[in-house]
Amino acid sequence: MSQPLTPARLPRRALRGDLLDFASAPAWAELDSPAPRFRPDHWLLIDEQGRIAGVQAEAPEESWQREDHSGRLILPGFIDTHVHCPQLDVIASYGTELLDWLHTYTFPAERRYADPAVARVGAERFLDALLAHGTTAAVVFPTVHKVSAEALFEAAAARGMRLITGKVLMDRHAPDGLRDDVAQAERDCVDLIHRFHARERLAYAVTVRFAPTSTPEQLAMAGALCRADASLFMQTHVAENRSEVDWVAQLFPDARSYLDVYAREGLLHPRAVLAHGIWLDETDRGVLAESGAQIAHSPSSNLFLGSGLMDWPGLRAAGVAVSAASDVGGGTSLSMQRNLLDAYKIQALRGERLSAWVALHAATRGAAEALGLARELGSFDAGTLADVCVWDWAMGSVAQARFEVARELHERVFAWMTLSDERNLAATFVAGEARYCRPATMTASAP
Ligand code: GUN
Ligand code: ZN
Repeated sequence: MSQPLTPARLPRRALRGDLLDFASAPAWAELDSPAPRFRPDHWLLIDEQGRIAGVQAEAPEESWQREDHSGRLILPGFIDTHVHCPQLDVIASYGTELLDWLHTYTFPAERRYADPAVARVGAERFLDALLAHGTTAAVVFPTVHKVSAEALFEAAAARGMRLITGKVLMDRHAPDGLRDDVAQAERDCVDLIHRFHARERLAYAVTVRFAPTSTPEQLAMAGALCRADASLFMQTHVAENRSEVDWVAQLFPDARSYLDVYAREGLLHPRAVLAHGIWLDETDRGVLAESGAQIAHSPSSNLFLGSGLMDWPGLRAAGVAVSAASDVGGGTSLSMQRNLLDAYKIQALRGERLSAWVALHAATRGAAEALGLARELGSFDAGTLADVCVWDWAMGSVAQARFEVARELHERVFAWMTLSDERNLAATFVAGEARYCRPATMTASAP
């Protein structure tokens, strides 16, 4: 690996700005919530191991390398709990719903990742794009090719990033060049787990693409891997699109529901991340809550592919953790703000209101907790690794004018979430190291 988890010695840094993170989970639709910790014009101290040393109002002594971002918003780095590395090439593809979209655009793009050079360049470009959007940790789908997972692990280690991924399992209903078989897939998983899992900030996820592209035998193999090592993650898709749900019912006539296909194989557990979860019933919600598995809500994807409107408050009420995800390339942006804004619109269409607190918590501390990683990332708690982003409150005259009249804290943060995107990002730090800095040609005063 090219870089150790705790670098020997970094400069002790102190970042000055308006610090916002979460001490706890906000209640649904509570604007005057005790959960957000807003500390305007404070200093965030980062020690020589790249960990948060503390937060204070007064300037630290001279031995700290001070970076003055007064008037800027400083947040924990975003955690994208569901995104596809090879699908940057098909983002914004016209005119299809899920199953046609997979066959028309996605599978052809994923085939190219059999080539190690394509996989390596693609992984590096993808992770650098995440960092340039303020995302410092992610749960990622590569492709069926072992080399695509290797490339992602190596590129994440080189950047010091928290990354959860694993080779995609697909042994049916996929074109030539995108299918594996149970025995070879198991060998590849075992080898990748051995080489990458729990090393540095990397973790392996048993990655079932979705029920239709795995035989029952492959699903059983995936479940056996999870049972053999309780520290492994699992990622898949569930109940995204109505035609997909119908197809799963045909393929698995004995299953009670789509979710049950996974439940029967032991694939639901506290480190399971299931994207979408739109077309679930009350029993499914109870099964999810009982298992500790989380739903990676992918709002821009759900709107773009016309998949449906996820019942976020219903999942919460059932006790299911919901984290925020871009699902690029079904999703239309790696920007978590754009995705959270789409999540707000989805709830608006359902007659609900998504607060900025619930939304931003789901992209930071809430995601870290759902992944069991809150001691490592997601907040400014002392001892966590300093995955931190510095944002401009306003880019351009429209946003500027809006902030001039905003009074309440929630009003201000909600306007930021609604009006901002990656252009607002000034700098990204991963474990205390600067990994992205906005080019000088882009400035906050741009019209
Ligand atoms: N279901 C199975 N594969 C995919 C995928 O790549 N994207 C989305 N959005 N849904 C899927
Ligand atoms: Zn997806």
